Amino acid sequence: MADILDWTGADSQKLDMATYEARADEMAARLREETGAGRLPFLTMPYAAALKDQLSHLKDFLKGFDHMLLLGIGGSALGARALQQAFFPQQDQPGHTGPSLWIADNVDSYALEAYLAKLPADKTVVVTVSKSGGTIETVGQYFILKKWMQKHAGDGWFEHMLLVTDETQGFLRGEADQFNIPTLPVPDNLGGRYSVLSAVGMIPALFLGMDVDALMAGAAEVADLLIDPDLTGDALAKHSSFQLAAWGAALMDKGFDEMIFFAYIPLWASFGDWFAQLWAESLGKEGKGSQPVPAIGVTDQHSVNQMFMDGVRNKACLFLTCPTLPAGPKFPADLPDQFAYVRGKDFGELIQAEGLGTQMALSSNGVPLVELRMGEDGPKQAGKLIALLGAATILTGWLMGINPLDQPAVELGKRLAKARMNADGLEEEKANLNAFLTADRDTREF
Ligand code: PA5
Repeated sequence: MADILDWTGADSQKLDMATYEARADEMAARLREETGAGRLPFLTMPYAAALKDQLSHLKDFLKGFDHMLLLGIGGSALGARALQQAFFPQQDQPGHTGPSLWIADNVDSYALEAYLAKLPADKTVVVTVSKSGGTIETVGQYFILKKWMQKHAGDGWFEHMLLVTDETQGFLRGEADQFNIPTLPVPDNLGGRYSVLSAVGMIPALFLGMDVDALMAGAAEVADLLIDPDLTGDALAKHSSFQLAAWGAALMDKGFDEMIFFAYIPLWASFGDWFAQLWAESLGKEGKGSQPVPAIGVTDQHSVNQMFMDGVRNKACLFLTCPTLPAGPKFPADLPDQFAYVRGKDFGELIQAEGLGTQMALSSNGVPLVELRMGEDGPKQAGKLIALLGAATILTGWLMGINPLDQPAVELGKRLAKARMNADGLEEEKANLNAFLTADRDTREF
């Protein structure tokens, strides 16, 4: 079954998409320039052959471990988690005995203590993922795990470590060189939220036994046209990523400043968190953007859906479905009359019916909606989805006139936190902190 975007509920006629569609030539020229200059490696994947080679060498090494502890945050973790949840659900199911992936993407002392106390060091590989090689949340955990591994594994500690970081710079690169720690690169120009199909996501995927080739092949299928050095505006105009971008930009102009990502493929729910970071960090700039809202079908029908249906009319929706999800067990045939409508039917019919119902209800409540209907829920489709949404995000940013590849506004909080920990320099931040902490505060016990 083909993978389809269903635009029937997109409300395109109410939006001024034409203004953006008219810019297909300009966007095609920009894509030609940026891909030609190597600035969009998540589409061109120049690293693919080398990565596959590195992964094939890594395969036996990884087989020596039962546990992988991944240290990373943001784009260095969210893609790996989405893949884990989608294609390795057994870790969260009863009776799991195979490999286990633990993703430490927070500053969470409870979790870290538990890893230190319970993971068997001899069967654990610690994978530290940081493009910059200096993110304190990640490197801070690396320092602690390094000591832990040195204590348990002695001189061979570095044989239980893997680093995924910039090829030439950053603190972790220095660690790799100094201690001979095996390393895979985060390719140049590949920002965290666009990096899941590099070593960043492919190492954990390989560890869990996923079809890494299918993931990358799916992405390449979507990116193929976009990276054509002869790409024309006409060809781009027909590509789903550009159509989504024109829709996304036109929606914001009409005040649709929230974008729901409603996943009716339950195991793919974590792609909602991955998408939220992609969309928010890429597009939330200069007072513009739309707030991504991840939601899980059908769970969130009993939670936030009331707001989607009848709250502020500022929401659009990407609605992810797959008509070929497993049928599951059958409902018994002898159910009470009240439930006669499910007697003998497949359990899996219910999610399809509920998805359809919610989709129709959202549409009839004025929520512009595009359905992303995946023909199957396999790794190739996941690769296609990743590339499609990545490309759509970049193009939306360009149409909005902002840079979708940076995230400057998140730096202030990081600098203030460093100042609070008394890092060198940062005199202005320290003065601001002091003023903040010594000002009168309006505190009330509850
Ligand atoms: O998407 C991004 O660029 C960010 O979210 C980063 O992934 C995140 O800040 C972690 O950065 P790094 O990989 O350098 O540790």
